[in-house]
Amino acid sequence: MSEFQTSTRVGELPEPDADAQAHSRRLQAVIEAAIDAGDGAIGFDEYMQAALYAPGLGYYSAGSRKFGADGDFVTAPEVSPLFARCLARQCVPVLRAVDQADVLEVGAGSGIMAAELLRELDKLGCLPQRYLVLEVSPDLRARQQETLRRMVPELVDRVVWLDRLPDAPIRGCVFANEVVDALPVRCFHKRDGQLFERVVVRSQDALGWAEREADDALRSSVAGIESETGPLIDGYQGEVNAAAAPWLASLADALAQGLILLIDYGDGRRAHYHPERADGTLLCHYRHRSHGDPFWWPGLNDITTQVDFTALAEAGLAAGLEFGGFTTQGWFLLASGLQEMAAETDPERDGAAHYRRMQEIKTLTLPTEMGERFKVLGLHRGLTPTPAWPLLGFALYDLRDQL
Ligand SMILES: C[S@@+](CC[C@H](N)C(=O)[O-])C[C@H]1O[C@@H](n2cnc3c(N)ncnc32)[C@H](O)[C@@H]1O
Repeated sequence: MSEFQTSTRVGELPEPDADAQAHSRRLQAVIEAAIDAGDGAIGFDEYMQAALYAPGLGYYSAGSRKFGADGDFVTAPEVSPLFARCLARQCVPVLRAVDQADVLEVGAGSGIMAAELLRELDKLGCLPQRYLVLEVSPDLRARQQETLRRMVPELVDRVVWLDRLPDAPIRGCVFANEVVDALPVRCFHKRDGQLFERVVVRSQDALGWAEREADDALRSSVAGIESETGPLIDGYQGEVNAAAAPWLASLADALAQGLILLIDYGDGRRAHYHPERADGTLLCHYRHRSHGDPFWWPGLNDITTQVDFTALAEAGLAAGLEFGGFTTQGWFLLASGLQEMAAETDPERDGAAHYRRMQEIKTLTLPTEMGERFKVLGLHRGLTPTPAWPLLGFALYDLRDQL
């Protein structure tokens, strides 16, 4: 999400209309049934899975607008075509180096990044044989198809929508922008020297938090974190993105040769679990406002957590990938051609277009906007980065010591 959204108490959020409320109540009934079937409580990961992805009801599976000015948040590809154009520049040396190159985008949102990437790769004379899209939301898949037909009708034949990762591993580039932050997480609370799982229960007509003793898997995850960060302070409430490692391992299995770029907001583990973040990183987004109550009208808000990039890097290496680089979004884009793109508009001849472009570049790169909060992790298989064949985006600023 791009802008620093206004942080809002739920009482101050705009009230959803009657249809939206009815939709949310239908989803809540499904979640309540799961709670009843689960001895009165479900893990937050199960709740988040339903709230975001329950068929026909979850935030990403149903028809709300989500992205852009009239949605709930703005992502980098929605801010500016320059974002996808820079990714395309990083793609070119990889696509040229492998046979029968494909691109795979996981979680393609409105489809705008796919359209801009294909357009730029076409301009650079380096189209992939296929542009694969893996998208869990049927609603978004339909929107992606509409976007691509409208923006790049001549290239849409190359785009293939997948229901699951390809059986035959591909060669080329894999992108996932703001996907890991939307994977379901488990929540924990360390209190009085003991570890509890924060779970979801029914609370009168609403849903609410409760705690139960942590199971072995959660204990082992938190012990792994503490072995690196030192003991988390008493009272610490945080999240473990247990789905991220298997998700990345399956992506790695699907890549025979090439580069995976994971772009998201987050940090290395020591910063992610810093005592200053003792309340965790869970955040919800509704109509360009952020708030901290994931039970406010389930299905109408996006629910996200920041990404522990150390966990992703470890999972990638464990899956046989090689480390390609870790840097901020701002530096990645600057190293991938953004500066030259800034010079494409002429302030004398077209002041308005130039001003617009400068604003977009600021949003994508400034530390106070998306530039530093968002990071890029590169993992690869079977590439030999050399000066003639670089992983461009990581050339200017190497942040690997933060992992
Ligand atoms: C925050 S949106 C980001 C969309 C887009 N990448 C962008 O930057 O605008 C998250 C996207 O990931 C998709 N998604 C979430 N989990 C997924 C999964 N396991 N596999 C594929 N797509 C997933 C969602 O449906 C949605 O399209």
